[in-house]
Amino acid sequence: MDDLSTIRREALGAVEQAADLAALDAARVAALGKKGSITGLMKTLGSLAPAERREFGARVNELKGEIETALEARKSALSAAALATKLGNEKVDVSLPPRPEAQGTLHPIGQVMDELAAIFGEMGFSWAEGPDIEDDWHNFTALNIPPDHPARQMQDTFYLPPRADGTPIVLRTHTSPVQARTMLDQEVQKMLAEGGSLRIIVPGRTFRIDNDATHTPMFHQVEGLVIDRTTHMGHLKGCLVDFCRAFFEVDDLPLRFRPSYFPFTEPSAEVDIGCSWAGGELRIGAGDSWLEILGSGMVHPNVIANCGLDPAIYQGFAFGMGIDRIAMLKYGIADLRSFFDADLRWLRHYGFSALEWPSLTGGLGR
Ligand code: PHE
Repeated sequence: MDDLSTIRREALGAVEQAADLAALDAARVAALGKKGSITGLMKTLGSLAPAERREFGARVNELKGEIETALEARKSALSAAALATKLGNEKVDVSLPPRPEAQGTLHPIGQVMDELAAIFGEMGFSWAEGPDIEDDWHNFTALNIPPDHPARQMQDTFYLPPRADGTPIVLRTHTSPVQARTMLDQEVQKMLAEGGSLRIIVPGRTFRIDNDATHTPMFHQVEGLVIDRTTHMGHLKGCLVDFCRAFFEVDDLPLRFRPSYFPFTEPSAEVDIGCSWAGGELRIGAGDSWLEILGSGMVHPNVIANCGLDPAIYQGFAFGMGIDRIAMLKYGIADLRSFFDADLRWLRHYGFSALEWPSLTGGLGR
């Protein structure tokens, strides 16, 4: 019996004094493990007389239960203390500055397209698009460039294998085929017949075999087209003067209209803007040099007729401009090829905030 109370005192004492979970486990093993004191007592039961065994066995079991309860209680106490210590050491400093979120920027091409939309949108133009892979008829023939016309050679065309029905196809060399696609549209023809006015800009990708600091095989143009019964060369001039001054943000920007030739316009004019190269640095709007920025003209009557409209009734103007080129000029970007390198450092430098939508009232550029 003495034995039992000694074992009890020792076992419960070890549990009580266990300073951490490892010590507690050692106390458990000392009492209840294979070679533990309680397990040792259990083993002696077999040698006792039946009546004694029942009585002593019950007391050993009771003691075992008591030790188990003590182990559980100590274990929760130790775990709670360990958690409290851990939480105490893990203080969150709410005054630390937040880690910055990575923020993307808009590519200058997208930015300039938005600027174009803002300016021409104000003048009543809507945005139209057409396919990058174009058939020969829309890219050339409809635009008054018949099959053996020398202008086809001027355009360094990427030819694709013809369609199954034999239709010759190309990567469009300019956005002008969308002129034809739009004029041929039945809804547009109906609107014109009712006395309406067609005004579209067509920003998009274009392709020519060419590659140097100012030419890439893929580049961007914006086409402009106005068709109605009364639009004349004076409107063309006014529209482009207003556009250039708004886009380059120079109120008195000088413009020069130079006679030129395009198969799909007559008369045709190339437009230059005034600039200076003083000190090797380009300044737009000052000085006595000129920079060519676009081609334009009155839509050729043959084009109007090819698109199913009567050139005796309808007339208008068209223009075409390199988006990449005007972006380079406005934002001082020297090499066109860098536009398409997908270099994040370049984009961070030349990119635009996605949250500042260009508008004529809120500001166009940077
Ligand atoms: N399509 C012509 C080019 O790519 C530009 C242009 C468009 C000229 C419309 C006149 C009218 O060079």
